[in-house]
Amino acid sequence: GRVGVLYGGRSAEREVSLMSGHGVHEALRSVGIDAHLFDTGRYTLVDLIGSGFDRVFIALHGRYGEDGTLQGALELLNLPYTGSGPLGSSLSMDKIMTKKVWLQERLPTPAFAVLTADSDLDRVAGEIGLPLIVKPPHEGSTLGVTKVNGLAELRRAYELAAQYDEEVLAEQFIDGRELTVAILGKGKSARALPVIEIVAPGGNYDYEHKYVSNDTQYICPAVLDDALTESILRIAEQAYVALSCEGWGRADFMLDAAGKPWLLEMNTSPGMTSHSLVPMAAKAAGMSYAELCVAILSTACC
Ligand code: DAL
Ligand code: MG
Repeated sequence: GRVGVLYGGRSAEREVSLMSGHGVHEALRSVGIDAHLFDTGRYTLVDLIGSGFDRVFIALHGRYGEDGTLQGALELLNLPYTGSGPLGSSLSMDKIMTKKVWLQERLPTPAFAVLTADSDLDRVAGEIGLPLIVKPPHEGSTLGVTKVNGLAELRRAYELAAQYDEEVLAEQFIDGRELTVAILGKGKSARALPVIEIVAPGGNYDYEHKYVSNDTQYICPAVLDDALTESILRIAEQAYVALSCEGWGRADFMLDAAGKPWLLEMNTSPGMTSHSLVPMAAKAAGMSYAELCVAILSTACC
């Protein structure tokens, strides 16, 4: 049947999604699947109903695509889609709720506070310690994120993040190695792919270094001892299941100087661009980009 590749959309990560969507569309067509691009930023749900798709591949990032709203609409339409359902999507899109769930499951995630317009920033900095990271809880691709080294920078960091979200996350900064783990499957059959280490110039893996420049290095499988690798893979799977994620996802970690892994966030519709991480992990596991797209598409059922 006809497969819709939902891409573009209206979030701050629209540009990233355009790249992901083109990649997925081309790969699915290359293996004979009748795939068609559908930009949810330009067309409406009514157009989607009229499109005749019998399932959709969600290649959208951020709000109205990755956050559970679209997934809820697709449930109502009875149109099968890839990836997590409304609950896993909305929990993972909210970095504060994500951390609350992980803490409840005793999974390691850095200390944090929730900032609002009337928060006592000095007190928060005192509690969490400096440096700390300020993030809008509902964004991706490092948009609106600041590393705060001194108290004087905290107000500006809050204001930048508050342009995206009313409540802002302030999180303890973990100095160390940046790791990410892709996960495929669901529940007991959720399986992590090889760990990737990201080595960005100056430790600055931001929007520019994610999608534009070519000076970020990726090491996959990451060079870690076997016991630590196993432990990180299991934590990634537990973190994914704890959030009710399904289909596919990617857990981002920091590994501190003492060798302890810390969970930062879960991505339920990770990037599928030529620079992206899940395709890299799949390749290390012997799966081509097209095979990965087909495997993800096969999660759009029942
Ligand atoms: N938010 C971007 C697309 C990612 O996680 O890959
Ligand atoms: Mg993210």
